[in-house]
Amino acid sequence: MSTVVRLPEDAAARPFSPPFNVQKIRADFPILEEMARGHHLVYLDNAATSQKPRAVIDAIVGYYEHGNANIHRGVHYLSEKATQDFESARQAVQRFLRAKQASEIIFVRSATEAINLVAQTYGRVHLGEGDEVVISAMEHHSNIVPWQLLCEQKRARLVIAPINDAGELILHEFEHLLGARTRIVAVGHVSNALGTINPLPEIIAMAHKKHIPVLVDGAQAAPHLSIDVQALDADFYAISGHKMYGPTGIGVLYGKIALLDEMPPYQGGGDMISSVTFEKTVYNKVPHKFEAGTPDMSGAVGLHAAIDYLDGIGMDNIARYEHELLAYASEELSAISGVRLIGTARQKASVLSFIIEGIHPHDVGTILDQEGIAVRTGHHCAQPVMERFGIDATARASFALYNTREEIDALVGGIQKVKEVFA
Ligand code: ALA
Repeated sequence: MSTVVRLPEDAAARPFSPPFNVQKIRADFPILEEMARGHHLVYLDNAATSQKPRAVIDAIVGYYEHGNANIHRGVHYLSEKATQDFESARQAVQRFLRAKQASEIIFVRSATEAINLVAQTYGRVHLGEGDEVVISAMEHHSNIVPWQLLCEQKRARLVIAPINDAGELILHEFEHLLGARTRIVAVGHVSNALGTINPLPEIIAMAHKKHIPVLVDGAQAAPHLSIDVQALDADFYAISGHKMYGPTGIGVLYGKIALLDEMPPYQGGGDMISSVTFEKTVYNKVPHKFEAGTPDMSGAVGLHAAIDYLDGIGMDNIARYEHELLAYASEELSAISGVRLIGTARQKASVLSFIIEGIHPHDVGTILDQEGIAVRTGHHCAQPVMERFGIDATARASFALYNTREEIDALVGGIQKVKEVFA
């Protein structure tokens, strides 16, 4: 089988700018020094969660040592400082996603919460009995179940756009499914189980032609690709901090201001109000309307540091380096007899799912673990994807900017060991 990941024709000839020094980058991540089962850790489970650079760890420690106070509530020095740090993190996310204004950035717990927020606010208002939500057949459970819950509440219908054997959305069938009853489209930017990069410009143009808004689950795209929500014309875009070298427990919902303004609140509590009486509550303006209660201030500070870190390296450099890694890994694994790649889309990022003939993926994962190699095995919270390919599970190696060709060689060696054990 030939390599399934293609680089732009002239990419190999172009130098990285600034120079991409993977060993220098690795030195920024303390956990990569760990030993696992007596071996140097080879961490290839980045789609589940990525590791954190020292800059992020220091920012969180620094926040608690020098800047912790509740925000938007105090007139004292520390509260003002914490508020500034939190709002400056919002501006960093605005720049990272290239949103028009900072108030389009809502801090939430994760991409999962961002999608639930849209389903239960925009969806609750705009869907009625017989209406439809269109998603793709490659979605993560977090972009399926919130819509199922909404459809159950509203007696609406979840419509699934099919994918082909390579794991690519079948665009003409997708377009055909957009009808007079479609109220929203929700698709992943990058599939966590297959690695497919969805053609968002085409998807969004097709939906907008019929005046249907589009939510993009960008959890798996944010660490790997440069994102421009305005150029994409995405209506909603969800990301998770922990997948992009930031802390756990913080995520972001981007929404176009006109949509956010008219949406009802998601949760009630402090900070999301401008006045409360027992008779009536007047809600705060966007984004605060959607940020009830004390938010994750240290998480926002950590996410800001992660964005600064990524900016320092350059998303285009990261995308290109990881593309080369994925191409190398795809070629090496394809060459091993009995190995089948699941997800061979022409446009892919970071993820290499595979099965080995006659060996359960959990056994593959367990034996690789004995070699210090961390991969994820199972259905990857995307059971319908597994069903589409007629399998229960895969082993999945997922790459980050700190992974190396040597680590891919270690994975190849580990797979050979797995095969020897089961020979
Ligand atoms: N969504 C995460 C993954 O793909 C947990 O592993």
